[in-house]
Amino acid sequence: MKVLVTGGAGFIGSHCCVDLMTHDVEVVVVDDHSNSSPLALDRVAELAGRELASYAVDVRDPAALDAVFREHGFDAVIHFAARKAVGESVEMPFEYYDANVGGLLNLLRTMRAHEVGRLVFSSSCSIYGDADEVPIREETPARPASPYARTKWFCEQILADVCARDSAWSVMALRYFNPVGAHESARIGEDPRGVPNNLMPYLTQVAVGRLRELSVFGDDYPTVDGTGVRDYIHVMDVVEGHRAALERMDAPGFRSLNLGTGIGTSVLQLLAAFTQVCGRELPYRIVARRPGDVAELVAAPDRAARELDWRSRRDVLDMCRDAWRFQQRNPQGYESA
Ligand code: UFG
Repeated sequence: MKVLVTGGAGFIGSHCCVDLMTHDVEVVVVDDHSNSSPLALDRVAELAGRELASYAVDVRDPAALDAVFREHGFDAVIHFAARKAVGESVEMPFEYYDANVGGLLNLLRTMRAHEVGRLVFSSSCSIYGDADEVPIREETPARPASPYARTKWFCEQILADVCARDSAWSVMALRYFNPVGAHESARIGEDPRGVPNNLMPYLTQVAVGRLRELSVFGDDYPTVDGTGVRDYIHVMDVVEGHRAALERMDAPGFRSLNLGTGIGTSVLQLLAAFTQVCGRELPYRIVARRPGDVAELVAAPDRAARELDWRSRRDVLDMCRDAWRFQQRNPQGYESA
């Protein structure tokens, strides 16, 4: 099997490439490196023990993407390439619609021209917004609360419409909850540009001394200890879900599936788990709520278990340990090398 992975140098993409390549899938990457290091791909090749073809291509570029499809005959595509910072999407909505919706449309046009109909699409739990029910099922009404979340929701609807009309398509939208952690080798991991937006990379950077203290965004939510609750999931579990999806794409049509553990963890609980793993107390301060945040997002993971025969296997301590090891061995991220 030969698979195109867009955004293959990014956090989830790079882990997905290693997982596929070590399971006999031939991988080709396109990535414009707007939020990823090309060094990640060297590490992917090293971990997989073989080379992979990669192209510095923006998925919105019709000619460049077409050239990649002409060179390779793909059986399927996994589409990670997108912008993903919620706060930034409020500041620059056009750029988010352009990259995320525009990128998908050009990819679909190119896939159709080359008669490639199998697609795994990166969606997000953020489409549920302030959900009516927790745990969140796929049927729970979507209520996206940011331009970023709306791009993911619109993309899912585009894909559902396209699949409804044409049985040549088989598409799975995987709605990730909060992917964290790193490959157990500590050779690849999460390396955000600038100050991290997300909790786990912020924690690891405080622990390694790059940042002074963690700001906990609000302690007055209606949750176990007042801080926000999320469904953190190990990135290797997430990518194993992609492989399970690829193996089950024979039926035409559109499906959406939650990828989560079903277990909620508060900010203070994650901090405690991380403290246990890194062996020392980390400074933190309670500050105001972050605009746009919700109290609790936890998946009902049953549909993925049923349809993909996939379940998360790693727990919060595994996630903290692997994220911390990557940060320790790569204190400045990939550029430490
Ligand atoms: N948090 C803090 N301090 C921080 C960062 C986060 O207290 O410095 C809290 C947040 O308030 C929230 C929890 O930690 O309660 C998790 O926040 P993240 O920013 O790590 O993740 P989000 O739940 O906001 O999820 C967002 C998007 C997802 C996306 C995810 C990873 O909604 O779609 O980031 O990029 F998958």
